[in-house]
Amino acid sequence: SHSPWDGRPIVLVGLMGVGKSTVGRRLAGRLRLPFVDADHAIEEAAGMTVAEIFEQFGEPYFRDGERRVIARLMDGKAKVIATGGGAFVNEETRALILDQATAIWLTAHPDVLAERVGRRDTRPLLRGKNPRQVLADLARVRDPIYAQAHIHIVSQRGPHEATVTAILRAIG
Ligand code: S3P
Repeated sequence: SHSPWDGRPIVLVGLMGVGKSTVGRRLAGRLRLPFVDADHAIEEAAGMTVAEIFEQFGEPYFRDGERRVIARLMDGKAKVIATGGGAFVNEETRALILDQATAIWLTAHPDVLAERVGRRDTRPLLRGKNPRQVLADLARVRDPIYAQAHIHIVSQRGPHEATVTAILRAIG
């Protein structure tokens, strides 16, 4: 249903907890490509954590920085990029990614997402809330948008290696 990968940046999109960073890092290793975690790149550029940026400047400011960082990464060079869950939802950022990269949407069962986000409490959108509820609400709004990605990969419960292999097969 899609043509083989053409050497553009590979961009992983999808909800918090789906494993974009872990899968992205391993995928890059298998392809011997650089890996960039967009949230980390934003934190480096800002000298603050994502949570601090949300807290001090608000989400719209974060989204703008996110868009600029991702735009800078769209330089035509082969690499693997893990994005924060909201990046692809932003219209401008999404247009950039769809135009200049191969976008891969990772999905997983809501139980798997909830379990994974439970391991870390640094995410501003989940703080003080029921993660399962927030993720369900986000999925309802975001899934039709994520579905615009070029490739959809369902991440199974268990080791991320299976997801990496599924991606390699899909882009091969
Ligand atoms: C967000 C996801 C986070 C981070 C920020 C907002 C979102 O990234 O960018 O907290 O809107 O879904 P992860 O998907 O890596 O958790």
